[in-house]
Amino acid sequence: MNKLVKITIDGKECIVEKGIYIVVAAKNNGIFIPTLCNLEGVKPKGSCRICTVKVNGRLMTACTTPVNDGMKIENNIPELHDLRKAIVEALFVEGNHYCPVCEKSGNCELQALAYRFNMMVPRFPYQFDIKEVDASHPKIIKDDNRCILCKRCVRTIKTDDGKSIFAVENRSNKTKINIDSELTDKLTDKLAKKAMDVCPVGSILYREKGYDVPIGKRKYDLKPIGSDIEN
Ligand code: SF4
Ligand code: FES
Repeated sequence: MNKLVKITIDGKECIVEKGIYIVVAAKNNGIFIPTLCNLEGVKPKGSCRICTVKVNGRLMTACTTPVNDGMKIENNIPELHDLRKAIVEALFVEGNHYCPVCEKSGNCELQALAYRFNMMVPRFPYQFDIKEVDASHPKIIKDDNRCILCKRCVRTIKTDDGKSIFAVENRSNKTKINIDSELTDKLTDKLAKKAMDVCPVGSILYREKGYDVPIGKRKYDLKPIGSDIEN
């Protein structure tokens, strides 16, 4: 085990392993910091900024910042609540998220965070861009309307020799995620199911799996996001 250090999160003193990420240190101490692009056990990317906290007064992403002795971390404060809520609202207006008809409803982290932040009507105008739904793959349906470009699929769904099966295409507002055309056969049943699970929203759907558990009995229908961490 690494050296132990003392930090505070919202005034609570925590003794944690030096060098672990703030988001992990918080979780180990019963404090929820929202995440979207981050996935436990996978190298963090720090792209969505939903986990932003204040470290000694400076805004930092909790999923990419390792703890150090004496850090004073602010997490549950109105300023950050509003920033995180604005990020969720921006993601809703950039995509086309129709929760009542989405197969991921109740299991969707974006929807669960919207509930947590009491999002009603986004403060930004809806863009209603036309996006692609690709149903050509035998194992999955890929719906770009719901993709939040977190790249969790790119970072986790890999061939045995470590190649990413999902790939980022284009740049800026044309960026999208596709299956690498040369690796399409490598998306096995097991990896397709895993891809659906790692996707925080309903952008990757394993065929014939969507309605396995009825709405009302799904993960965040039963327990609000973060409630398994907070004590
Ligand atoms: S398909 Fe899902 S996991 Fe992949 S980048 Fe889009 S939202 Fe993230
Ligand atoms: S969860 Fe930390 S930046 Fe996305």
